[in-house]
Amino acid sequence: MPDKPRLLITRKLTDAVLIRAARDYDVTVNADDHVFATDELIAKCQDVDAVLPCHSEHFSADVISALPERLKIIANHSVGVDHVDLVAAKDAGVVVTNTPDVLSDATAEIAMLCMLGAARRGAEGDAMIRAGKWDFWSPAFMVGRQVTGKRFGVLGMGRVGQVAAERARGFGMIVHYHNRKPVPEHLAKGAVFHDTVEGLFANSDVLSLHCPATPQTTGIINKDTIALLPDRAILVNTARGNLVDEAALADALESGKLFAAGLDVFCDEPGGNQRISALKNVFLLPHVGSATEETRDAMGYRALDNLDAYFKGREPGDRVA
Ligand code: DGY
Repeated sequence: MPDKPRLLITRKLTDAVLIRAARDYDVTVNADDHVFATDELIAKCQDVDAVLPCHSEHFSADVISALPERLKIIANHSVGVDHVDLVAAKDAGVVVTNTPDVLSDATAEIAMLCMLGAARRGAEGDAMIRAGKWDFWSPAFMVGRQVTGKRFGVLGMGRVGQVAAERARGFGMIVHYHNRKPVPEHLAKGAVFHDTVEGLFANSDVLSLHCPATPQTTGIINKDTIALLPDRAILVNTARGNLVDEAALADALESGKLFAAGLDVFCDEPGGNQRISALKNVFLLPHVGSATEETRDAMGYRALDNLDAYFKGREPGDRVA
């Protein structure tokens, strides 16, 4: 029997995924789950045939150029691949795959949690009770915004955006969206298409971000685009932190231009943005959109499916470079 391919798994995956990986690969696991520094990442990659990283490992052009000749596939455990320089990977002949579909439900659930947490002041209420400061009730107390009947704007009507739209419809919201092109009607399900970002923003009581982070979308939420939103709109971001100019967002939350924001992702991770964290009208989570037991298994299996295809000489189903 030929030797198993050598595989580096950069973070702690679920037991079920690690067991399957060990069956088919000679696996090196990052046992204490720390984030590899760049030099360590490069060093760990030197004697493997494949790497299975998360979005926490950055494969810049420099890192890719330092990969050994034998390493020809980066099978990501993420749908977002903004942490990998895809052009450099392609130039170097390194295959890159991701894990679409399997995390759409979980991420859309978190988008709903962020929306409702922001609209109904979830973090504020929770913090008050935990601090032993709930000493008052009145009809005027902790009044939030109802989402029923409001417009749910989806920026990026891909897989996650479509599921988020479906969930929002469940709350009686009217879905609007902007996408590079309209999606077929059986997927749009009556959602109103806007061919410009401006058109979408002007029609979003809640704006939920579901587009990938690219040079074109970086900072798409900024002072000028926030001004287009209806007054007291709510921003939800479960995609990538760098879609948002966080200083402009903090200004809008402080001034009351925005009613609230629900954020699962930040420009600096882990950690977040201290100015935003100091505000009351935010509902914040630590990048856990896909963090369910079911989805973590599914993401790991999907990454392994891609590796299996590659090592069996087939085209991996989720090839992005
Ligand atoms: C993704 O899959 O892109 C999630 O953000 C987790 O990495």
